[in-house]
Amino acid sequence: MVSVNPLTQLDLPTLRRRRSMKWRRYPDDVLPLWVAEMDTPLAPPVVDALSQAVHLGDTGYATAGRLAEAFAGFAFHRFGWWPDPAHCVLVGDVAQGIVEVLTVVTAPGDVVLIGGPTYPPFRRLIPRTGRVLRENPMARGADGRFRLDLDRLASDLSAPDVKAYLLVNPHNPAGTVPTRAELAAVAAMCEKHGVRLLSDEIHAPLVFPGSQFVPVLSLPEADRAIAFVSASKAWNLAGLKSALAVAGPRAVTDLRKIPEDAGISAGLFGVLASDAAFRAGGSWLEDLMAGLDHNRMLLESLLAKHLPGIGYAVPEATFLAWLDCTDLGLGDDPAAAFLERGRVALSSGPDFGGMGRGYARLNFATSPEILTEGVLRMAAAVTPIR
Ligand SMILES: Cc1ncc(COP(=O)(O)O)c(C=O)c1O
Repeated sequence: MVSVNPLTQLDLPTLRRRRSMKWRRYPDDVLPLWVAEMDTPLAPPVVDALSQAVHLGDTGYATAGRLAEAFAGFAFHRFGWWPDPAHCVLVGDVAQGIVEVLTVVTAPGDVVLIGGPTYPPFRRLIPRTGRVLRENPMARGADGRFRLDLDRLASDLSAPDVKAYLLVNPHNPAGTVPTRAELAAVAAMCEKHGVRLLSDEIHAPLVFPGSQFVPVLSLPEADRAIAFVSASKAWNLAGLKSALAVAGPRAVTDLRKIPEDAGISAGLFGVLASDAAFRAGGSWLEDLMAGLDHNRMLLESLLAKHLPGIGYAVPEATFLAWLDCTDLGLGDDPAAAFLERGRVALSSGPDFGGMGRGYARLNFATSPEILTEGVLRMAAAVTPIR
């Protein structure tokens, strides 16, 4: 089959007709490179599944159907790991799943540790559960890449009030993929200190050549962990609502404590689309990854040419670039200047916590043309007006 880059199929006027958050938050003169939606059409198997449901009027409440089996098949094929479908629970989305699980495995007032910089919704959602969010800063290497800081983690996990650690693997916004050895060390540390390990693996299908995603539950040390998976990022299904919480062998009892109606906030379209994506969306995903791989390198050359003051560690995974703009003199929130003066929308670094000061996150899941235009607009925002 001829491969087609899903990122070059939709032009700007077509994308501007979209009603999703990415395209509606800002006025039409702003180029949106912010929230984690992709500028792609749907994968053909997803189109088929949703069309059939529309024709059937199949728009009632969701049931999980055989989604867990579909995910297990995908995970086995892609990561060599077979999760037990009986240990999976349907939830509306990853964020909701994490909240449900935290409510079961921790108590109000307990500390939930998370590797910073932190995906902004977690900074709001976790405190809303009555738990206390504490950042465990990742370490910035000489290459500008943020990785787990195992020494700091060992010390932070030993605090008696820490009861859960939320790992984000691959990491948003850093774009890093922890190694098997790092994960084993994290799992062992959590076990030693009686801290529950939760692993957000939403970006797992989006790992580039050169790095390898290791599902935390594939490690024997992590048999009490709970992972969260979804097709929503890799196949752009976020608005359809469907994710799975997956329990390690010693966490199954906890997962069963989640109220039975937790899955009610999942959408049937989300389940059907995700099922189709996991079962038959593999070749589309390969084409997408080739396009994203091209874009992550294109971004490097565009920044080198037009904005050499920006620090960019090419991500190992995700379609998100975590840009160090501290040398540009744009203050704590460079995205504000890019928006105001360049009419291009990135995600604001400070929304990711203190470690995000001077940073901005750019979503490169778009066409090379739009990406190029975005960087030119950013450059225009920093060029002194003559
Ligand atoms: C790391 C991470 N976790 C969770 C989410 C949110 O996922 P959901 O829409 O399934 O709650 C995102 C969305 O971008 C994300 O990047």
